[in-house]
Amino acid sequence: MEIGVFHGGNAVSMLRNLKIKKLYLVDPYLEYDSYKESSAKWSYNQIVYDKIYETTKKRMRKYGDKVKLIRESSSNVVIDDKFDLIYLDGNYSEVINDFEKFFPMLNKHNGIIGGYAFTPSHLQLVRDVLKIVEIYDLEVYLGGGYNEWWLSF
Ligand SMILES: C[S@@+](CC[C@H](N)C(=O)[O-])C[C@H]1O[C@@H](n2cnc3c(N)ncnc32)[C@H](O)[C@@H]1O
Repeated sequence: MEIGVFHGGNAVSMLRNLKIKKLYLVDPYLEYDSYKESSAKWSYNQIVYDKIYETTKKRMRKYGDKVKLIRESSSNVVIDDKFDLIYLDGNYSEVINDFEKFFPMLNKHNGIIGGYAFTPSHLQLVRDVLKIVEIYDLEVYLGGGYNEWWLSF
């Protein structure tokens, strides 16, 4: 499952490189404040977001039932399934809520939950991930080309 899909670039990369039975993609495609600590400009206006949703939906069509693109925020989405991989790349200020909501759905035998943007330019996200690590007494792994963080089981 991926929270925060945007154009589906990472989703396509996962579909190409991993053996995926089912991929849930969750994104409300709604205008929202850009990340306060970041220069990233993710807060496109609603017309642009609607177009991105439509093109992403088309982009995913060729994967058929394997991909379920859900236009909903992570806090409102209702999913009843188990996951081997949960990638949190939605609203970084909600990473703790996202973690607490989706962690129970992670397969604790070799499952991985993580996300993007563990960098000094996203200090609040860094703090929140470290809070999760402390509360749940886990180890965080860092790496990848995009400052990924992950916890594996
Ligand atoms: C950094 S982009 C995702 C990029 C994508 N993961 C990739 O690497 O190709 C962030 C996305 O999170 C979405 N988003 C914002 N708030 C969200 C929320 N509450 N739940 C799910 N997605 C959210 C935005 O609409 C935006 O498309």
